[in-house]
Amino acid sequence: MNVSVIICAAGKGSRAGFEKNKLLLPMPGEKGITVLEKTVRAFLREDITQIIVTLSPCDKEEIELLLAPYPLCKTVFGGDTRTQSVKNALAAVEGDVVLIHDGARPYVTQKIISDCIESVKKYGSGVCALPVIDTAIIAEDGNIAEVPKRENVYTVQTPQGFLTSDILRAYGQVGEEIYTDDSAVYAKFIQKPRLFLGERGNKKLTFREDFERVTPVR
Ligand code: CTP
Ligand code: MG
Repeated sequence: MNVSVIICAAGKGSRAGFEKNKLLLPMPGEKGITVLEKTVRAFLREDITQIIVTLSPCDKEEIELLLAPYPLCKTVFGGDTRTQSVKNALAAVEGDVVLIHDGARPYVTQKIISDCIESVKKYGSGVCALPVIDTAIIAEDGNIAEVPKRENVYTVQTPQGFLTSDILRAYGQVGEEIYTDDSAVYAKFIQKPRLFLGERGNKKLTFREDFERVTPVR
């Protein structure tokens, strides 16, 4: 089974509030490598045969230049939302399995990638998820409405892997609706996605502070 990867990089990084897309900034605490390049490098493995990077027109030149040393990478234009970006990228996928990953998660490990691929091969999907540390509650109008059992509550990260035919079929039905992630699209149109255990270090760089703290949580 050939494995393709979609790396989402067509955002604006508005919450980080820099002058440019946060993915084009240097890695926190590392010189000479951008966040996007660090993420892409994690997926340069023998079992991955194609990497598709979504980009917005304003970043095209800069991203294509930084990806030039990586012949496995091709770029496609993203859309206004991550959902539309993934939908565009799926049209270019050639592998039987596709992992979808946020360019803003450069700390993804080789174990996470291997576990994701293995989960797809075994169960048809693999969604990187972490058990919550704090107690999570469901709120309603400023009150606690429900306290789910903590062992049943996870936060969801990327990568999220699927059989290409399934996730293509799911995204074929999204229309203009916005989904929080790919597992939500898969859950709505295909079936309940399978989870695998992520890592605390696999953080998404979202806010300005995330670029100021040098050592990632491991
Ligand atoms: N992304 C994308 N296409 C979009 C929006 C987001 O490919 N239309 C990508 C981002 O580049 C990022 C990933 O999806 O790597 C996760 O999104 P997020 O962390 O929200 O990044 P941004 O959307 O860029 O940031 P913000 O929401 O703060 O503007
Ligand atoms: Mg966003």
